[in-house]
Amino acid sequence: MRRVLWKNARLATLAGREPWGWVEQGALLTEGLTIAWVGPQAGLPAGLQFDEEHDLEGAVVTPGLIDCHTHLVYGGQRAREFELRLQGASYEEIARAGGGIRSSVAATRETDEELLFQLAAARLQSLKAEGLTTVEIKSGYGLSLEAEAKSLRVARRLGREAGVDVLASYLGAHAVPPEFQGRQDEYVEAVCAWMPQLQAQGLVDAVDAFCEGIGFTPEQTRRVFETARRLGLPVKLHAEQLSDQGGTQLACEFKALSCDHLEHLSPAGVLAMAQSGAVAVLLPGAYYFLRDTHLPPIQALREAGVPMAVSTDHNPGTSPTLSILLMLNMACTLFRLTPEEALRGLTVNAAKALGLADRGQLALGQRADFCVWDVSHPNELSYYFGRNPLLLRVRGGIESRP
Ligand code: NIG
Ligand code: FE
Repeated sequence: MRRVLWKNARLATLAGREPWGWVEQGALLTEGLTIAWVGPQAGLPAGLQFDEEHDLEGAVVTPGLIDCHTHLVYGGQRAREFELRLQGASYEEIARAGGGIRSSVAATRETDEELLFQLAAARLQSLKAEGLTTVEIKSGYGLSLEAEAKSLRVARRLGREAGVDVLASYLGAHAVPPEFQGRQDEYVEAVCAWMPQLQAQGLVDAVDAFCEGIGFTPEQTRRVFETARRLGLPVKLHAEQLSDQGGTQLACEFKALSCDHLEHLSPAGVLAMAQSGAVAVLLPGAYYFLRDTHLPPIQALREAGVPMAVSTDHNPGTSPTLSILLMLNMACTLFRLTPEEALRGLTVNAAKALGLADRGQLALGQRADFCVWDVSHPNELSYYFGRNPLLLRVRGGIESRP
């Protein structure tokens, strides 16, 4: 296996007790897909064998960035709705009038699989250029067995061909499609019935739902989660984004990997998360783009020891951002995370939100996924906005330039 030594690095390992897991003069050895050695350069074993050596000249190295919540596969765009919202219409009003998610569903159904792939691959390209190495992609703009399968197949193909690791989540319970209008419970039955079929095709890593006044009730979400549990699939939830539905407590009952959004999370919800170990996925792009003013209870989550992840929530309605670095900045400016918390949110805690123990830190045995940055300290990654200091991205030991 190819062994590559990376030396003269300033490492933000995010492992160990030091702030940032900092190693001032560090080195890292990759062996094939994994990290075979990492630490202070002075401690490198004598007589170490390697095939190749890179001098990073003091550049900062972090784990590869992980986007744990995206809706990357869809047709069309919703700039017109953005205009309507600027004229005073609310996100809920547009959704209730048949726009919103449903307009993206119509566009996604009309778009053939090849074009859906090309569109999503181009979006992924922007995220990769800023250091993305692993991404979660949800369905949820198909809302029929066929169109959900199409979207999830696109996600799988991106995982094979786009140079990034992809986890696919089935979000059939995202909205009620027009053909089920007024028959919400029947639609939930359909979502549950499709789940084993999609799973049998190898298309599902986890199951998500949108528990909300304009989405699904906690009772309906429970039915989706019960089906997932029977199939052995982990769950996660779009919870308390626009109102407090108690979805978080329900998700925690089902040992959810994560609860996401959380602007209206209650103290009881925070407690449930702390007890169950769910990750809080914070989505500053959606908060910003909806011009929300109701902050998630960051301080309460922090005090309760709930791990916090940060993600783009890339989607055409509430977060059309394709900059993962901008989310680092917004997590600090809007949500008052520290720059270190924000970076942990896009690495180690994002991995946790995906149930992945093999990445998110620079540590022995972890995947050799990392980024080399033209900065002198990792706090600069959340300080700049609109600047991309990525020099090199390494995924599974293979380097590429942005
Ligand atoms: O994460 N809240 C529900 N789902 C998406 C928005 C989907 C859309 O508007 O198309 C979100 O914000
Ligand atoms: Fe989302």
